[in-house]
Amino acid sequence: MSHRFAIEALSRDHDRAAFVCGNERIDSYFRTAVSQDVKRKYATCFVARELSSGRVCGFYTLSSSHVPLTEVPAHFAMKLPRYPSVPAVLIGWLARDRDFAGIGLGEALLFDAIKTVAMAPIGAHAIFADAIDAPALAFYEAYGFTALKDQPRRLYLPVATALSALKP
Ligand SMILES: CC(C)(COP(=O)(O)OP(=O)(O)OC[C@H]1O[C@@H](n2cnc3c(N)ncnc32)[C@H](O)[C@@H]1OP(=O)(O)O)[C@@H](O)C(=O)NCCC(=O)NCCS
Repeated sequence: MSHRFAIEALSRDHDRAAFVCGNERIDSYFRTAVSQDVKRKYATCFVARELSSGRVCGFYTLSSSHVPLTEVPAHFAMKLPRYPSVPAVLIGWLARDRDFAGIGLGEALLFDAIKTVAMAPIGAHAIFADAIDAPALAFYEAYGFTALKDQPRRLYLPVATALSALKP
């Protein structure tokens, strides 16, 4: 059966209680804490809702942040101005419910996050993400994210590079 989704800003209408991605830290954060972060504007949160069932089946969060220039991989840093830090957006969390594994939903969430950052009316040169475990690291690396210097789980990708990968 094919699934169709809308990706939209988190609202009170989204039922988060039954969400299970398999990682307890992420599940607990999404079920109980994300709305507080959104309320305080520490993060924005976007959810994937299955159109046929209304079920919440994935989400990601974005927060403004920066990366010290000294931590940016050399091949990216050499092209950048010598300001001490690079304006960036952090993908704090990104996950899909395990009932929707392997159908491209993780990729759809990541691409939507990249487009959201690229279209935002606030400068952000790069996207970065913290990989919670080895599979998450492999997922991000498959899309061109590169580890920051001396931080193998902190992943970095210029927005322009990410966008060019999205073009058909
Ligand atoms: C990581 C995660 C979002 C991937 O979502 P998914 O829906 O299973 O992945 P998709 O079906 O969209 O797969 C997209 C591509 O990524 C690849 N991929 C998925 N998980 C991968 C992994 N662990 N390692 C390498 N590649 C991976 C798929 O093979 C696919 O590539 P293909 O089209 O060439 O076959 C999902 O496993 C998840 O929610 N995990 C728990 C939460 C988590 O770890 N989040 C990330 C850090 S916060």
